[in-house]
Amino acid sequence: MILEVSNLRKEVSSGNNQLVILDNVTFNLNEGQSLAITGPSGSGKSTLLGLLAGLDEASSGQIRLDGEALHELDEEQRAVLRKDKVGFVFQSFELLPSLTALENVMLPSELKAEDNPEQRAKYFLNRVGLTQREQHYPNQLSGGEQQRVAIARAFACSAKILFADEPTGNLDPKNGEMVSNLLFEVNSETDNALVIVTHDHDLADRCDKKIELKLGKIVE
Ligand SMILES: Nc1ncnc2c1ncn2[C@@H]1O[C@H](COP(=O)(O)OP(=O)(O)OP(=O)(O)O)[C@@H](O)[C@H]1O
Ligand SMILES: [Mg+2]
Repeated sequence: MILEVSNLRKEVSSGNNQLVILDNVTFNLNEGQSLAITGPSGSGKSTLLGLLAGLDEASSGQIRLDGEALHELDEEQRAVLRKDKVGFVFQSFELLPSLTALENVMLPSELKAEDNPEQRAKYFLNRVGLTQREQHYPNQLSGGEQQRVAIARAFACSAKILFADEPTGNLDPKNGEMVSNLLFEVNSETDNALVIVTHDHDLADRCDKKIELKLGKIVE
């Protein structure tokens, strides 16, 4: 099991109120499987993804990622786990503005001291159709191009599980399909698991499993 999630709850305080963002979220995912998380805006999808990837801490409940209990790890240990096992495509891309597209894609594999970061980065930039854009900085790229760089970056370093927050959200149908195909190709070429937040029903239907959130709860 790559992910075991039980009774997950996330609350935040706003003024005097406690706001419940996620409640009683329970599911499992096997190694190599793909999972789609759907639901309306504000239903807690990005929050859930952040918890699953160890970027944020739950208020209660448990997450095991590749057997490791995230709630038992401190911030530093979670950072190590993320570096070793997790790839993440943020809804807002989070590319580093002072690095070129190529440098952005190379960075995680360099940090992990993997072999040939440049070769891997070029390979995945090519797969997202951006070979011509290697030397451009994020502010010289369109939103959709930045999204594709972020996807290349997530793939360029090997991860056991890849989280992608609306990976086709900024793409036209043609590029959206290219990115979807890439996600599933890499998912089947390797044994990495895939967790995708998406509003795109075609993309969700291609996943092995689906969960739908409404007001922070899983609906059947
Ligand atoms: N740190 C926070 N403080 C207060 N409220 C928060 C915080 N983080 C998230 N929320 C609220 O939790 C709810 C869920 O947010 P989240 O970003 O997970 O939604 P989402 O399903 O990803 O929506 P979208 O489809 O628009 O991206 C929203 O109402 C949001 O305002
Ligand atoms: Mg979101």
